[in-house]
Amino acid sequence: MKYIAVILSLGALGACTPRPSCTLLFDGRVPFSAKPADFDKDTSLYDHQYVHGENQTWAEIIKFPSLAGSLFDIPKGAKPVEVTLNDNSIFTPGGGAPQVGFRRSELIPRGNNGTDITVQGTTTFHWSVRTDPRRPLNYTHEYHAGWHETSDYSTSQFTFLTGKPFDATMDPDVSKPRTLRLAGRQSNHPETTYFQTAFTPDIWHNFALTIGWESNEVTVYYSKAYNALKKVAGPAFNNNSGGGQFHLGLLKLPTGPGGIDVLHEGYQQSHLNEGLIFGGVFIEQSSNGCVTLEP
Ligand SMILES: *[C@@H]1O[C@H](CO)[C@@H](O)[C@H](O)[C@H]1NC(C)=O
Ligand SMILES: *[C@@H]1O[C@H](CO)[C@@H](O)[C@H](O)[C@H]1NC(C)=O
Ligand SMILES: *[C@@H]1O[C@H](CO)[C@@H](O)[C@H](O)[C@H]1NC(C)=O
Ligand SMILES: *[C@@H]1O[C@H](CO)[C@@H](O)[C@H](O)[C@H]1NC(C)=O
Repeated sequence: MKYIAVILSLGALGACTPRPSCTLLFDGRVPFSAKPADFDKDTSLYDHQYVHGENQTWAEIIKFPSLAGSLFDIPKGAKPVEVTLNDNSIFTPGGGAPQVGFRRSELIPRGNNGTDITVQGTTTFHWSVRTDPRRPLNYTHEYHAGWHETSDYSTSQFTFLTGKPFDATMDPDVSKPRTLRLAGRQSNHPETTYFQTAFTPDIWHNFALTIGWESNEVTVYYSKAYNALKKVAGPAFNNNSGGGQFHLGLLKLPTGPGGIDVLHEGYQQSHLNEGLIFGGVFIEQSSNGCVTLEP
């Protein structure tokens, strides 16, 4: 009783009242003490084996740029984490040929095995992203900076994109390469772009995406810098079937003529040194409508 009274009186004074917090299902915010090599250990917050170049370790890929964390990092005492691409970022799937058309470095939440609690009911995926002026992307390529791939690997429920679409007929609503875009089920042709915004450099772009795994709805939230998230799209119909895994990082497509096998063909320049900075990664339970919009 006393506790409630104190909260009410602080509220009356205009101080911050505690907000109800949603149930956390995965917390991928990186503690200040973390080292790149921690990402290679089986205690890593993220899958320690996937997805990176066949002959690479996370210790070589992960960087910690010295800048302030994102909206949801600061209250948690977490720091930004950068994934980088270079000429060795060639992933070779088990039993398959090296994917020489792509360059890939992606983080997958530990425990996200395709059927776990992050793909049940309704869940919200949070992440923030910003450019690294020392490792710029090349916007004449298409990049996937995040997606949720079905557990049979046949498609993705959503993709988070930047750069010039490899296939313009897939993304007729995209005219500016240097944009961040949230698109729906990848097997749709064309894709549905639910939201796009300019990818302005050197500032945090904060996203949240609520996915109803049975309701087949998606809702997109977005803000810049340290502003609270605001709904920017949805709820909209999206085929969310198939469970699967959340990827965050960089998958760079090649350039080349339409119709090529982008996994194994096309052009990638050498002496690559690119990166993308992430922060504020967590997944929460939203079956009761709860979505965290500010810390
Ligand atoms: C990894 O290293 C092995 C041994 O040097 C080499 O045969 C293979 O082609 C390399 N894989 C990639 C994707 O570069
Ligand atoms: C995935 O993880 C859940 C627990 O989080 C477990 O119940 C389930 O059996 C696992 N599925 C697979 C395919 O490993
Ligand atoms: C951007 O990519 C294209 C195609 O791979 C390449 O020709 C060009 O040199 C790259 N630009 C820069 C600045 O690296
Ligand atoms: C979603 O797509 C799957 C095939 O991937 C299909 O079997 C299913 O009927 C679709 N669901 C809806 C609601 O459209």
